[in-house]
Amino acid sequence: MTTDTLAMEIKRVEASRIHEVDFDNLVFGRHYSDHMFVADYINGEWTNLQIVPYANLSLSPATAALHYGQAIFEGMKAYKNEAGEPLMFRPLDNWARFNKSAARMCMPEVPEEIFMGGLTELLRTDAAWIPTTPDSSLYIRPYMFSTDAYIGVKPSDTYKFIIFTGPVGKYYSKPPRVKVEQHYIRAAEGGVGAAKCAGNYGGSLYPARLAQQQGYDQIIWTDARDHAFVEESGTMNVMFVIDGKLITPATSDTILNGITRNSIVDIAHHWNMPVEERKVSVKEVIDALKEGRLEAAFGAGTAVVVSPFGVIGFEGTDYELPAVTEGSFASRVKDFLTDIRTGKTEDPFGWVVKA
Ligand code: COI
Repeated sequence: MTTDTLAMEIKRVEASRIHEVDFDNLVFGRHYSDHMFVADYINGEWTNLQIVPYANLSLSPATAALHYGQAIFEGMKAYKNEAGEPLMFRPLDNWARFNKSAARMCMPEVPEEIFMGGLTELLRTDAAWIPTTPDSSLYIRPYMFSTDAYIGVKPSDTYKFIIFTGPVGKYYSKPPRVKVEQHYIRAAEGGVGAAKCAGNYGGSLYPARLAQQQGYDQIIWTDARDHAFVEESGTMNVMFVIDGKLITPATSDTILNGITRNSIVDIAHHWNMPVEERKVSVKEVIDALKEGRLEAAFGAGTAVVVSPFGVIGFEGTDYELPAVTEGSFASRVKDFLTDIRTGKTEDPFGWVVKA
């Protein structure tokens, strides 16, 4: 069985909803394309592979995922090249990370041909939904959750794997104001911080709400032990340009292995820019800010792409960040990534895959 010979049933919508969407004013996460890919894990194997109209699910109130959180996901994006062909960005990296999350959460792996076959067929089916306006893309959400109707605490025997998509615009409409969090934590060593599991996001909401009440948009998490080192931000990895070097926390047990992050690191190497992946102390960042040595601090992620921070709040002081100029690393790397993803420039890394 390969991606192209994967047996799946395809049930198409009778009437597309695409005309209901204002493609010139896309917001993040509000519109969903016509179809979704669905597969069930039953009796130790993936079965019922289908593309069906995007619709509500019917679940038992005892569905295990709703109680004990065996739920993981990925965030990916598709673009179109000038010939109108759907392009995926590093999909196998998302597939590999998805299966790492699955292993950590005691869930079954999704074989490559099911992940890639379902994704490819879905993108071909809903290709018309891939936007081409600036800063827009088709967001792709693969996810898996446990479906046993059983409330004893144990790994479920059954699971659902779904991929749906939706056209999106920018995640942040203006540079986010971020606060260095020194009380609450996102992840501790030995925990599930490196897994893209639903609970990591659920647990972040309360501290994020408190920060929002203080006028911030997002949190920069620090390490659970000392709150001295930068980890990641709510929906993204964090990166700094200090003294002409790209500096970012090394990924670990507590930090998500971000695909946009890794791509930016690779591009910086490709441009012969010094790169340091290591522990990054909050003090080092604040000192560099105070001394005018910090050129940029930004979030990197599929949803946010490259999002320069407007303000970093630390111990009650708001530090304004320098405005991003056209020739700066943050803006050049964002443009280069966009050009690679949309097929406008040659992809020297082999990251782009046609659907
Ligand atoms: C992504 O960048 O795709 C993510 O998964 C973040 C999401 C929670 C908005």
